[in-house]
Amino acid sequence: MIKMTLNAAKTNGTISRYLYGQFAEHLGRCIYEGIWVGEDSLIENVEGYRKDVLEALRQLNIPVLRWPGGCFADEYHWEDGIGPKSERARMINNNWGGVEENNHFGTHEFLRLCELLDTEPYISGNVGSGTVREMQQWVEYMTFDGESPMANLRKQNGQENPWKLQFFGVGNENWGCGGNMRPEYYADLYRHYSTYVRNYGDNKVYKIACGPNTDDYHWTEVLMREAAGLMNGLSLHYYTLPTGNWFGSKGSSTEFGADEWFATMKNTMYMEELIVKHSKIMDKYDPECKVGLIVDEWGGWYDVEPGTNPGFLYQQNTLRDALIAGINLNIFHNYSKRVKMANIAQVVNVLQAMVLTEGDRMLLTPTYHVFDMYKVHQDAELLDLSFESPMYKHGSQTIPQLSVSASKNVDGIIHISACNLHHAISASVSCHIDAFEGKEVSGQILTHSSLNAHNTFDRPEEVAPVKFTDMTLRDGKLNFVLPPATVVVLKLG
Ligand code: AHR
Repeated sequence: MIKMTLNAAKTNGTISRYLYGQFAEHLGRCIYEGIWVGEDSLIENVEGYRKDVLEALRQLNIPVLRWPGGCFADEYHWEDGIGPKSERARMINNNWGGVEENNHFGTHEFLRLCELLDTEPYISGNVGSGTVREMQQWVEYMTFDGESPMANLRKQNGQENPWKLQFFGVGNENWGCGGNMRPEYYADLYRHYSTYVRNYGDNKVYKIACGPNTDDYHWTEVLMREAAGLMNGLSLHYYTLPTGNWFGSKGSSTEFGADEWFATMKNTMYMEELIVKHSKIMDKYDPECKVGLIVDEWGGWYDVEPGTNPGFLYQQNTLRDALIAGINLNIFHNYSKRVKMANIAQVVNVLQAMVLTEGDRMLLTPTYHVFDMYKVHQDAELLDLSFESPMYKHGSQTIPQLSVSASKNVDGIIHISACNLHHAISASVSCHIDAFEGKEVSGQILTHSSLNAHNTFDRPEEVAPVKFTDMTLRDGKLNFVLPPATVVVLKLG
């Protein structure tokens, strides 16, 4: 029996709702087909946006949506995507398959999408191949209220009022696709470009600098040393690859056994070490945690589905992805003192997606269900939870078997999200809850007898949450049993 202690009276700060952010890039079938089909499409749409996808995403209470990239952002020139669609410039999407980008989905279409989803925009600006002037004018175009060259152009294009724009990224992966820069060089560019990302009227921009790739601690050190005072957030990108290998096969999204399962869990848990170590450097320059660590790209990354365009990053999504999501979200909760936003890559049809589409059909992935189950934690207070996890042993390697976090919302309801990483062994937990008098417990579980179970267009509900019943709550003691390979969310009140 695993002993756990939860203190309902001891909170450790707020779990920002922005940890539940999403990412939509001009990549493969994410924007075009997955979100935007155009008003004339035979696929049912609202103002050109797919109706089924809009409805599914609204249900998730997405707090923030990042756009237009990714690598695409540092080759994107926003002026190409405004004005009458028939006159918009056509370009090549050099990063993703070399396909034509007709710019029919631009600033107005993105910001309207955010309105329809009731989500906040997070825009990535172009440092790699864009000018300071271009970046300055984009922010002016979107947020200036009154008469100005850019505000007038916006009005001419049909948007009288400025939009609210809080989150703005000054470049993306400038250590790689965003210019192959050294941190010293990028730190100077960040200082330069971000100076012209202005606050117009009462619009206050939260400026996010390009942060490290995975374990590039030197990048974090240099950026914090040279520019911490000019930024609100520093990004971190880390993806889970089952093989850990960027240059060969990353592994199949659906064809795997216990070895790949374990490797994936281990590589997912590595996120915690990355956050701890990058935070330690950030603490040195920013002990008050004013600069947020923004994990604006994360998730599972596999070989593309056989027969699909390698540049489109289309992959299936199994029970294993549900665990990747549940574990990462628990980690973000538990380090929410420093981690202020996270954006899973990506929302539709790309990498670890929420939904997949095929023609006019759509399915919800296991990852979608985890986001739906976990959304109760948004803006709740993180609770103090202590336990010693048993170890998950596989061959000569070990990792913790459990990943857990807990929060209390404004109504005093407690939610516990627990993942059993083990592919074959269940976990019995006995949790003592201090300062809690509630008597009711209910829950949902997401699991399956096959590790690689996934939803298809013919069997879209193969993996879906069901009611969880294997628990009791008596006199402040909660007992529950987690079957192998499960994500569970419990509600206590
Ligand atoms: O999410 C896919 C790509 O991964 C993004 O464009 C890039 O930023 C990262 O390398």
